[in-house]
Amino acid sequence: MENKIYFDNGSTSFPKAPGVSQAVAGLLEEGAFNINRGSYEEAYEVADKVLDTREMLAALFHAERSRQVVFTPGITYSLNYFIKGFLKSGDHVLVSGMEHNAVMRPLRQMEEQGVAYTVVHTDEEGNVLPDDVEKAVKKNTRAVIMLHASNVCGTIVPIRDIGEICKRHHLYLAVDTAQSAGTIDVDMQQMNIDFLAFTGHKGLLGPQGIGGFLISEKLDQNMAPYIAGGTGSQSDLLDMPGRLPDKYESGTMNLPGIIGLHAALAYIEKEGIQKIHKKKMELTAYFLEQVKQLPGVKIAGKQGIENRVAVVSLDFPGQDNAVIAFRLEQEYGIMTRVGLHCAPMAHKSLHTYPQGTVRFAFSADNKIEEIESCISAFRELISI
Ligand code: ALA
Repeated sequence: MENKIYFDNGSTSFPKAPGVSQAVAGLLEEGAFNINRGSYEEAYEVADKVLDTREMLAALFHAERSRQVVFTPGITYSLNYFIKGFLKSGDHVLVSGMEHNAVMRPLRQMEEQGVAYTVVHTDEEGNVLPDDVEKAVKKNTRAVIMLHASNVCGTIVPIRDIGEICKRHHLYLAVDTAQSAGTIDVDMQQMNIDFLAFTGHKGLLGPQGIGGFLISEKLDQNMAPYIAGGTGSQSDLLDMPGRLPDKYESGTMNLPGIIGLHAALAYIEKEGIQKIHKKKMELTAYFLEQVKQLPGVKIAGKQGIENRVAVVSLDFPGQDNAVIAFRLEQEYGIMTRVGLHCAPMAHKSLHTYPQGTVRFAFSADNKIEEIESCISAFRELISI
């Protein structure tokens, strides 16, 4: 990584929080004993750490109880749990025009099982108006599923207002926090969120392969465990246990992932998400300001610094965006993600389909000098 510039934090964060790799290696070296299975001291020690991680996540997302935190291999799995474990034939759900395929593909599968959905109007900056959400509610609408912040252009969706609408219309609210967790405050209770899907490896600065969801007790009573298997609890039953979190946690968990996430959460708690967000937004503001002065480079989607996270998409009209991304990496060592970002519907909303965009996603570890190098690279690539 020497002499390289990493701007692909929307995909996965790098570097990870200090202490993460040591925590993962430490567990593997000292004993990644299986919890809820072995009845020996070493397994109880790991179990305590797992419980501690749940407590940290419950505090971060403002859940009442740590048992509302369920671990999965990642946010895609979490969203599948909700879409396939909760929705039934005849149900209707609302989504925004910015959703990722982690929502759209399972929803399309469920369409074949009789579930219908409406895509709420989303403007070309990725904004979703709460009024438009309310107008789209039908008699059989059961839930709203929305991302909190766009992985394509960073726009923040007004989840708090949408939560109010859900409360008024007795709808469940499921939120994809892939680009917001660890960056902006997500308050499950105040926002009226019933299902908060998170991933550990982006803004939470942990390893890949660990994520989860937080579930309201009301939703839990109406949702089936989409995956079933051994939990190490109530093993006399052939059916899944009914209590949280075991109901949704079958099979051996990703303990190295959870322990790595524990170290990352401890770091985030110490730094504070406001400080992390402020640093990212300073970099984003500078980047936007510089890019706006360049002819031949167009910001796609969200233009301003307000109401966004540190994810920016650029289009280079008249040029092949894939070639720009390739040259940025090959000639300048700048790592980005080009294309449709697993979100073709979002690109349609932003009018950047099918060409896609080059995406820049900053972390609090990036430096102003790195942005300056990137802007100089743009000048050379567009020959000004
Ligand atoms: N969903 C991730 C991204 O936007 C992987 O790159």
